[in-house]
Amino acid sequence: RGVGVVVVAAGSGARLGAGVPKAFVPLHGRPLLGHALDTVARVPGLAAVSVVVPEGLLDVGSASWHGVTLPAGAVVVAGGAERTASVAAGLAALGPDCDVVLVHDAARCLTPLAVFERVVAAVRSGDAGVVPGLAVVDTVKTVDEQGLVTGTPDRGTLRAVQTPQGFDRQVLLAAHASGVDATDDAALVERTGHRVRVVEGDPLAFKVTTPEDLERAARLLPPPQV
Ligand code: CTP
Ligand code: MG
Repeated sequence: RGVGVVVVAAGSGARLGAGVPKAFVPLHGRPLLGHALDTVARVPGLAAVSVVVPEGLLDVGSASWHGVTLPAGAVVVAGGAERTASVAAGLAALGPDCDVVLVHDAARCLTPLAVFERVVAAVRSGDAGVVPGLAVVDTVKTVDEQGLVTGTPDRGTLRAVQTPQGFDRQVLLAAHASGVDATDDAALVERTGHRVRVVEGDPLAFKVTTPEDLERAARLLPPPQV
């Protein structure tokens, strides 16, 4: 059995403020989603892909989809109001042919294939959950509602995590069955008591969130050959 990938692309992109949902914002003339799917299509052992988009963008023949190539057999489904609901929708739409599931943000459109490979390898070697992460360079404070510092966690113990996050399929299904909300899937899996490992992420797996991030992505991606 193979690898299933849920690509979540159903957010509105409020912080980017481009006027269209973020995953459909062009980068060198093609939607971020198209760039993300190019890499997903190359994942070794790929068995299923679900692409989760805003309700109004389900028609893959529409102009918004121009420049996006869906991996063979990929299905497109509508997302929910929160990221967790969008992941759950994508997870439900994956066929039974996968035992490892990756959840990936379309907004991390420059994530190198090597990150996908590291995550899959770690799940295959027995960890129920695997997330790519980077050491944190800034000192981080916890604060209360007044902005008063309540603590300074030892920076050496911190990792900023990215996607794709990889899971044993049954473990992820069970974690989502709880129905609670979280900012990443690993948090749901952690709550079920399963072991989650951090493997090395990549600076290129940054999430396009603000207009500055989009400019950075445009600088990093070689322009298309004409
Ligand atoms: N996402 C989703 N469904 C949602 C919210 C987010 O599928 N209801 C996806 C986004 O499309 C994105 C990823 O989750 O690929 C990470 O979310 P984020 O960066 O927060 O994207 P947006 O929610 O679109 O952006 P913003 O929070 O600025 O509105
Ligand atoms: Mg969001």
